[in-house]
Amino acid sequence: MTFGSAIRSQWLLEKDITFLNHGSFGACPKKVLEVQRGFQEQMEREPVRFMKREFPAELAKNIAKLSNLVGARPEHLVLVENATMGINAVLRSLMPSFEQGDELLTTSHVYGAVGKTLKYVSDCSGATVVQADVPFPINNAEQIIEALRVKITPKTRLALFDHITSPSGIVFPIKELIAIFKEKGIPVIIDGAHAPGLVDLDLENLGADYYTGNCHKWLFAPKGAAFLWVAPENRSKIHPTVISQDYEASFQEEFAWTGTRDFTPWLSIGAAIDFLNEIGIERSRNYIKPLLIDARKIITQAMNVEYAAPIEMLETMVAFPLPGNPKASLKYIDTLHDIIFDEYNIEVPILQVNGHCYLRISVNIYNELSDYQKLADVLPIIFKNGVL
Ligand SMILES: Cc1ncc(COP(=O)(O)O)c(C=O)c1O
Repeated sequence: MTFGSAIRSQWLLEKDITFLNHGSFGACPKKVLEVQRGFQEQMEREPVRFMKREFPAELAKNIAKLSNLVGARPEHLVLVENATMGINAVLRSLMPSFEQGDELLTTSHVYGAVGKTLKYVSDCSGATVVQADVPFPINNAEQIIEALRVKITPKTRLALFDHITSPSGIVFPIKELIAIFKEKGIPVIIDGAHAPGLVDLDLENLGADYYTGNCHKWLFAPKGAAFLWVAPENRSKIHPTVISQDYEASFQEEFAWTGTRDFTPWLSIGAAIDFLNEIGIERSRNYIKPLLIDARKIITQAMNVEYAAPIEMLETMVAFPLPGNPKASLKYIDTLHDIIFDEYNIEVPILQVNGHCYLRISVNIYNELSDYQKLADVLPIIFKNGVL
């Protein structure tokens, strides 16, 4: 199977759009959507039998398959709708144990929704959110470790950081970080929204306390498919954000049913893993990284800027500084995105890191260098004309 435009017809992606933003919401292949559609029809043919018998059986199969992929024991892993829900379940379950003066440590690259959840927990509990300022542009992983290390105090009650960051696209040295926090007895929550499918996971041996990851991004599942892994000693403390009939049943049961809804994204995770395996995970990574290197080079040259991170810290997303290093403002972000999208049919996000705007590309197997060349061709024109 050839990658690039040759494989793009396996997605519903519109032909006229140059799609360089897999990172925000993923894009699900047709084959996986067909499996989901099959489950939706099965559900509507006999809703009661489906919910009572077929759904639990299919759920167990999908959890088993996902557990195998991410190195988890199935009884330590539950499904949630998205990483936001995973983070909420953990933070809001732990919230009653926090008090005035406690510190909840995170970084300046934290995803917006996760930062807001920390703020909510802080508002409700009196704990303080402490932000480690991870520099960007960045030269090496040691800078991340140092930024977090200097913020640890006797009051630090938990550390929450990304596996792969959203706005800057960098991979955090999570093993080293976990070891530092573990040594001090500080629980670690990892936001792995971008990791499943992209990097190998071995959750049982990672040493984190909590790890949430999306299946609807790089694993190619339909939207609404994510997981939460919880270390065995913490399972009894953690409840879903929505409490339902299985409150006080097992960890697995509480998360499996949070009210009637469409569970088919969960039931399609296995099909997404099959899709990825058919393509070949290694083959796909061997395609993505060289393409990322080439794309990064031509876009950096087109804008006449410097690399923001060394290649060893990147997997499939790259954030580029913009000419003039514009300060982060919603107006600038929306205007630049809309010019690129409305005038040139290129879908690419503008994001903010540490108060400045960056353009971020994603690279996936349905992309090829000509996609990034299109962007590289228009950027000098846009910046010459001025964004605002
Ligand atoms: C690092 C990170 N965390 C959390 C999320 C939230 O994911 P979701 O909207 O699927 O909950 C995202 C989404 O892009 C993300 O990039």
